[in-house]
Amino acid sequence: MNLTIMNLRASYLILFLFGFGTVFGQEIKSPNGEMQLAFSLDAAGAPTYQLNFKNKPVIKSSRLGFDLKNDSTDLIQGFQIINSSENTFDETWTPVWGEESEIRDHHQELLVELIHQASKRKMNIRFRLFDTGLGFRYEFPVQENMGHFVITEELSQFAMTGDHTAFWIPGDYDTQEYDYTESKLSEIRGLMETAITPNASQTPFSETGVQTSLMMKSTDGLYINIHEAALIDYPAMHLELDDRAMVFQSHLTPDAQGDKGYLYTPAQSPWRTVIVSDQAAEILASRITYNLNEPSKIENTSWIKPMKYVGVWWEMITGQSSWSYTDELKAVKLGETDFSQVKPNGTHGASTENVKKYIDFAAEHGFDGVLVEGWNEGWEDWFGNSKDYVFDFVTPYPDFDLDGITAYAKEKGVQMIMHHETSSSVRNYERHLDEAYQLMKDYGYPAVKSGYVGDMLPRGEYHYSQWLVNHYQYAVEKAAEYQIMVNAHEAVRPTGVARTWPNLIANESARGTEYQAFGGNKANHVTILPFTRQIGGPMDYTPGVFEMDVFNGSHVNSTLANQLALYVTMYSPLQMAADYPENYMRFPDAFQFIKDVALDWEKSLYLEAEPGYYLTIARKAKDTGEWFVGNVNGFEGRTGEVKFDFLDADKTYLAEIYSDKADAHYKTNPQAYEIRRVAVDANSVLKQFSAPGGGYAIRIREAGKEELKGVKKLK
Ligand code: NOJ
Ligand code: CA
Repeated sequence: MNLTIMNLRASYLILFLFGFGTVFGQEIKSPNGEMQLAFSLDAAGAPTYQLNFKNKPVIKSSRLGFDLKNDSTDLIQGFQIINSSENTFDETWTPVWGEESEIRDHHQELLVELIHQASKRKMNIRFRLFDTGLGFRYEFPVQENMGHFVITEELSQFAMTGDHTAFWIPGDYDTQEYDYTESKLSEIRGLMETAITPNASQTPFSETGVQTSLMMKSTDGLYINIHEAALIDYPAMHLELDDRAMVFQSHLTPDAQGDKGYLYTPAQSPWRTVIVSDQAAEILASRITYNLNEPSKIENTSWIKPMKYVGVWWEMITGQSSWSYTDELKAVKLGETDFSQVKPNGTHGASTENVKKYIDFAAEHGFDGVLVEGWNEGWEDWFGNSKDYVFDFVTPYPDFDLDGITAYAKEKGVQMIMHHETSSSVRNYERHLDEAYQLMKDYGYPAVKSGYVGDMLPRGEYHYSQWLVNHYQYAVEKAAEYQIMVNAHEAVRPTGVARTWPNLIANESARGTEYQAFGGNKANHVTILPFTRQIGGPMDYTPGVFEMDVFNGSHVNSTLANQLALYVTMYSPLQMAADYPENYMRFPDAFQFIKDVALDWEKSLYLEAEPGYYLTIARKAKDTGEWFVGNVNGFEGRTGEVKFDFLDADKTYLAEIYSDKADAHYKTNPQAYEIRRVAVDANSVLKQFSAPGGGYAIRIREAGKEELKGVKKLK
């Protein structure tokens, strides 16, 4: 067969796959040719796209468009193509912190400029096709016939090719703090009710609505992830499933009036992303989400530094101490309530004495920071009351000596981490924000953990609406002015915005370790989070719990070795050691791993992965060149394999392996771990058992003959 015929056949194939029945059509391929995208207008002039991977359909023909408010001519069909253009892009950039020190953004772009014939409005759709998936967004250029507009719904469809397995949490306008359910798409409706577990603020919206990032697996072995990138000035997207046709449609978070977004030209939507691979590990390695965000807007980033911290926190979460200072008051009036006149409850966690204990511990064991919650007035009636003036973020309780603590921490070389619980009283937070950040500057706090517990104020607003998305962004950008790093809990889940604002060093925005003290997380939770919540950015998961039976009777569904592995598998430049100092002192040999593990990485290798079941990641530390390996495991015990071929060929290393004992189990025997030291080189292969809810953690560093004397070689 000669070349011409081959090419002809190929284009017939493309026509057959993509072009059938269309009026216009554009196709692009990703740099390595494996990902193919086709855009066309259908017979009604509706924009549609299809996505193939290795010639297999991933997204079947799916419509794109908008339903607008008070508008007789919605942007749904009746479009014409004015122009389309392609662009190849290949650039490598350097993140301030991250899973690797350099990120390549290599993609093929297709810009389709459309005009809506009836209304003469212009709408562009920009596609970027990477080797690991697709991003597309809508753009509304400045034009005569469109200024301000209100979105009733975005109508982006994602037509699946079958009844895939999904790892999903209920669609909800206010919370992501749910355990994941693994099920077929067709089973979501039947499982929704049990999947909706209680939260201080929650608004599920449909029996088949799920959140992004959504992880799926097809029966023929494709891993598909749908999320969004660069969520700026727009509501967060959920996915509504038509469970007969197996078509997802975007479902934006409404505001208090039910409207979805207020836009004006020039405007653009966030990117809608579809990450695809036949290897689960490739989903973790994809950098689409960051690549679709703008470069850093902070010029001098020298003040942004990864931190390892401890905190006056787990004792409140487990109920052993309190955020509040007194039990006497039913309500607090800031500025009027005189805390020096009330009876202390004797359980207040943020007392100067207790804080100093944590500072001592941090200093002794080399932690960078200490977080203290419950230090400021207002915790007696902090949420559930729709209270506007709930905190002022600057007035400490009488037993928290701000000056004394600052001086003590400084003397010990430890940095204090600020805590701003807003109780979702957002206008109140903005009212105090400058003063609150200034106080941090005055006292030398480099980072703040903020939080949004409870229903929103203004009443009726939702955590993930456009207005709130703008608030979280405002808090991060204002923090950058003060050179402050932000770790926001209960805020909207991240979408890679930390590339643009690298002072956003972490978020919670998922079910974190705190739920281990509220009845527990599923034992495979941490094998799913990297595929879902962490697609958008780092999570302050707050790992490191060594005592699984906590004060209030709840059980942590994890083995101790699994807790160690989380410092490697749950990537974050901000890592907490959450447990009490006393519990670390009961297991000083295991604690050593938390002290040793790095926070910032030159490269990351995703060695093996299966969402819901297991994952193993190796990372090379930026500063020391040491390697760390983490494995977390789901409900069933499993023996995995690590090939050390990522090590330099001519060197010998010392590996310290922290693993589950053979009889370890997250429920019945979580503290059964063992630590062994072996010599390894690039030819070594480790066969390692992980218990149910277990895992292992390894530190690997170059070692000389002297240090390796008497240490056995791993074959
Ligand atoms: C919820 C946060 O996730 C948790 O870490 C914090 O302790 C409480 N809110 C109180 O602010
Ligand atoms: Ca939380």
